[in-house]
Amino acid sequence: MDFQLTEEQRAIRDLARDFAQKEIAPIAAQIDESGEFPYETVKKMGELGLMGIEVPEKYGGAGLDAVSYVLAVEEISKVCASHGVILSVNNSLVCYGLEKFCTEEQKQKFLVPLASGKKLGAFSLTEPQSGSDAGNMKVRAVLEGDHYVINGRKSWITNGPAADYMILFAATQPELKHRGTAAFVVDTKLPGFELGKKEPKLGIRASATCEATYDNYKIPVSHRIGNEGDGFKIAMSILDMGRIGISAQALGIAEAAYEASVAYSKERSAFGQKISEFQAIQWMIADMSTRIEASRLLVYNAAVKKDSGGKFSREAAMAKLFASETAMWVTTKAIQVHGGAGYSKELPLERYFRDAKITEIYEGTSEIQRMVIARAALEGK
Ligand code: CAA
Repeated sequence: MDFQLTEEQRAIRDLARDFAQKEIAPIAAQIDESGEFPYETVKKMGELGLMGIEVPEKYGGAGLDAVSYVLAVEEISKVCASHGVILSVNNSLVCYGLEKFCTEEQKQKFLVPLASGKKLGAFSLTEPQSGSDAGNMKVRAVLEGDHYVINGRKSWITNGPAADYMILFAATQPELKHRGTAAFVVDTKLPGFELGKKEPKLGIRASATCEATYDNYKIPVSHRIGNEGDGFKIAMSILDMGRIGISAQALGIAEAAYEASVAYSKERSAFGQKISEFQAIQWMIADMSTRIEASRLLVYNAAVKKDSGGKFSREAAMAKLFASETAMWVTTKAIQVHGGAGYSKELPLERYFRDAKITEIYEGTSEIQRMVIARAALEGK
């Protein structure tokens, strides 16, 4: 596999790197501490074309490929994983889904403002009783003439408190289980929609995550994406792309922790020599470096597979599984290399460690990724 980047891919990587260093790095620790949503920098990411990287220019996006997208998420996440997931959700879970499944009229109405960064999007699948078992939805959408009436509660909505539009999945015929579900685009400013509890999270603390309740929320039939019955499959298909984004986020976090460890090991002395001269440290550095390189190959491979057309569920699951477990492993070792300094909030190591954990959980836990990979291996799915 040849991962020579094109001029265009290098340009978006450099743009994201430069923006992250100049605009995000100075606020990353502070917004982690306060948990405030970074509206200003998210707006600027939109102005730079980062909020709809793969969306064609005619729909307000940058018209680039999936490799460009992962490079941007990687660079942003290396500096701040909260910005990384805000970016990833808008690009993968929202814009990708709208571009793939919406009508021309829906694209003009929803995709154009979301891809150009004028509006922010969220994805609402999870419910209090169903995370991994995503087909088991209790939120109901009942058809009444030219609109649906929605009732129920959703949870764990990344970008939720800041979102203008949300892709919502709801049951239209609960007796049909996942085949009785539909997808909708919800305008969060309309009556009947209410934001719920904000999650007090371990990591990615500046990316707002919340519950949302629907109380007789009326939504026109024209805001339904695809057909009734397609909801679950649309969610799964969108999550394939989402998992590539999260794999790139995990890669960025791991790289940040690794680079800090290499630098620190060359500065810190113990027993009369730099700690980089101890084999114990060298072996940790070697293993970090190798696992990160393997993650990068899987992440870029999944993006290349997506760009080449066809199904990429397996490649996305492999990339997310390996990169997220690598991020957790590398950030744990990075704190070990730093010793007490790594455990202190004065350095960003403990933030990387807290941020890494979610990559093994959201958009499908590591166990779900293994399920997807095993089914591909055993059943050819
Ligand atoms: N693309 C399109 N269709 C797919 C698909 C895919 N990747 N995967 C499955 N399907 C289809 C199947 O073909 C099947 O179709 P039929 O009804 O025609 O047979 C249907 O969907 C059901 O498939 P399964 O039998 O495989 O379904 P399952 O109930 O066994 O579930 C699962 C499979 C992989 C476990 C799935 O439920 C899953 O991925 N769960 C995790 C959900 C998840 O990732 N949630 C995260 C939510 S988002 C989030 O984290 C918050 C955020 O804001 C970031």
